[in-house]
Amino acid sequence: MSALPVTVDKARYTLPAIGLHWVIALLIIGMLCLGYYMVDIPKGIPGRAAYFNLHKSLGVLAGALILLRLGWRLAHRPPPLPRGTSRPMARAAQWSHGLLYFCMLLQPATGYLSSSFNKYGIKVFGVALPNLAWEDKHLREFFMTYHQLIAIPFIALIAIHVLAACKHVLIDRDRIFGRMLP
Ligand code: HEM
Ligand code: HEM
Repeated sequence: MSALPVTVDKARYTLPAIGLHWVIALLIIGMLCLGYYMVDIPKGIPGRAAYFNLHKSLGVLAGALILLRLGWRLAHRPPPLPRGTSRPMARAAQWSHGLLYFCMLLQPATGYLSSSFNKYGIKVFGVALPNLAWEDKHLREFFMTYHQLIAIPFIALIAIHVLAACKHVLIDRDRIFGRMLP
């Protein structure tokens, strides 16, 4: 018996897209928790710098993986939405995914830029990155303000995204969630 052709409803994300989605999701959720935790550690407490360096290292790693993911996404069409998806639903998915990519790019970029204008520079797992900028308090604070601000809509978008995924599993009982599973 010959295999049935893959229909629109059986379409799914490719393995690299799935792997990158889950690794980056874990990293981002961890980074948000670490970011808010470390800024509450009073200055002078031993170990504070280690948290900041870990945040910078994981942040640079997340940024690199996000660029890789975006490259993969631009080179590969996402699977078409299942038949019967309403136009407003398709629009909502498109917009929310676009905004998630926007935040995924801005969050590490503003952190990186802010830290580049800091005298401490950026070390990735102990290895100092070449310093591309100079010490500038105003630019450091400028980029840090955006780093702090962008985290808020980013968290809201992630919450909406997760609730939407739960709705697909629990209420719609369709295969949207399965498209992002290996
Ligand atoms: C996905 C990537 C990232 C996420 C989700 C993230 C998230 C956060 C959050 C939530 C905070 C706390 C903000 C606040 O005080 O309100 C923070 C602080 C900070 N982040 Fe990131 N970050 C990321 C990447 C980076 C990168 C790549 C760097 C630098 C190389 C960086 C450097 C910093 C620094 C230095 C602070 C502390 C600022 C301060 O002293 O107030 N972050 N980050
Ligand atoms: C920081 C966390 C997360 C971010 C930034 C994120 C981002 C994204 C983005 C941008 C897409 C669209 C993929 C594309 O078309 O290129 C996507 C798809 C998806 N995400 Fe997430 N995600 C996160 C966490 C989660 C979590 C925790 C779940 C499940 C509870 C989830 C479930 C899904 C599913 C099911 C899809 C596929 C949707 C479809 O088939 O159209 N994501 N995610």
